[in-house]
Amino acid sequence: MEAASLPDPAVVVLIGPSGSGKSTWAGQHYRAGEILSSDALRAMVGTGPHDLEASAAAFGVLDAVLAARTARRLTCVVDTLGLDAVRRRGYLAAARSAGLPAVAVMMDTPAAECRRRNAARDVPVPAGALDGQLRAMREIDATLAEEGWDLVVTGTSAGAPEADHLAGASAAAGRQSSAPDDLEFVLQISRFPWGDDPLGWLVAVAGAAGEAGFTGVTLMDHLIQIPQVGRAWESIPEPWVSLATIGSRFPDLRLGSLVSPVTFREPGLLAKTVATLDALTGGGRVFCGLGAGWWDREHAAFAIPFPEPRERLDRVETTIETLWALWSSGTKAFTGSRLTLPETTCYPRPTAPIPIVVGGSGRRTLRIAARMADGCNVRTAELAAALPVLRTELDRIGRSRDEVAVSVLDVPVVGVDRDDVASRVERLRGRRPAATFAARHFAGTVTDQVGRYRLLAEAGVRTVFLSLPDLSGPDDPARCAPIVRAFRG
Ligand code: CTP
Ligand code: MG
Repeated sequence: MEAASLPDPAVVVLIGPSGSGKSTWAGQHYRAGEILSSDALRAMVGTGPHDLEASAAAFGVLDAVLAARTARRLTCVVDTLGLDAVRRRGYLAAARSAGLPAVAVMMDTPAAECRRRNAARDVPVPAGALDGQLRAMREIDATLAEEGWDLVVTGTSAGAPEADHLAGASAAAGRQSSAPDDLEFVLQISRFPWGDDPLGWLVAVAGAAGEAGFTGVTLMDHLIQIPQVGRAWESIPEPWVSLATIGSRFPDLRLGSLVSPVTFREPGLLAKTVATLDALTGGGRVFCGLGAGWWDREHAAFAIPFPEPRERLDRVETTIETLWALWSSGTKAFTGSRLTLPETTCYPRPTAPIPIVVGGSGRRTLRIAARMADGCNVRTAELAAALPVLRTELDRIGRSRDEVAVSVLDVPVVGVDRDDVASRVERLRGRRPAATFAARHFAGTVTDQVGRYRLLAEAGVRTVFLSLPDLSGPDDPARCAPIVRAFRG
């Protein structure tokens, strides 16, 4: 039977006799801070987990913590016997009043096993008491059905907690492991915390990316570090110069910008720069990301004109025509729809076609991508809206859908486990609420991410440009290796 993933956030109430494995199950699926255990609270307000005199106080604290956490929509796992109907319904009501899903997890450990484990304990529950719990457990099905839980699962059928931003990921990760799909991963480097060794850092990160299975590296093209990523005084290198350095050291990595605003460079100079990179890196592994640019501040600061959107989008078209003209063979005059050139003398020529990837999700940008580009890149959250626009335009102009490779820029929080994910979110979120930040950055474990990428591959994505919001050095691309390697490039 396929594991039932659990909503997250939720109030999860465990139900099962002593020794049925409730605390073990909770610890396998949830973080310690999410688990409200009557035993642990007895130890806190009494002399130890078995101090029954402390029960009333412990349950009082449990109720208070449950109320505080649910009010903030934080997941709570109630680790008590769960057999007391009045208490159990109280937990359900707390979930209801916070608008959180209420999940009952019934431990399905056989009675004999509970007895065996109980007997092996330092402080066993009296046999009669355990018999009573086992009896109550046998009758609980019907009671639960009447109580109105959103989900009732058994301990063995319950899967991983799955936040809305990870919907379908567990099942998709299963599909990926049984029948792997192809997906290419390229490491997008957006932050450069390189201390006093820019070159050493860049080379180490690019090398680690290659080791981890990334097929290439891309660099953001901005003149000042953008506020979405870091602070204005943090280093942000010119991408094409940096890519030349990386390319000279790693003969197998693909190299590109994601994306170069067309406002920054005269189109002809961009053609020359990228063709030079192609030649110096052996040919065939460079691509050129283009976009309309969006950040007025960096233009003003560098005395670069920043015209209205319409004019910038016109310039995307002009730039692509210029690249076509100066990258194709021969030196004859060029006449495009936006551009005429008296000659097209630009050597070195690319040895193989240099793919042009247009980035952005505006309607006109997508139409330009459909008409003129080899790739179309959007942010992950924009994919669902962008695909129909792109495909409609491709169909309209009679261009095959395969001719424009769809890619996403994905900026995920990747943790090794639920604890690691939560602490990364906590470190990165600043003043934004944790859940908002987690959702925006698709926070999840390695397995969650494999599932999420499988869903993207199924939607038609061919390349993921993966940008880690907490990229600090070579260990970070290395941490993604199990994700990248779950797919065939
Ligand atoms: N255990 C096990 N295999 C499991 C689950 C639990 O061997 N799949 C063992 C645990 O190591 C522990 C004992 O069974 O020694 C009881 O598990 P625990 O999770 O503590 O059970 P609870 O239901 O939490 O028991 P209690 O109500 O007493 O807290
Ligand atoms: Mg326990």
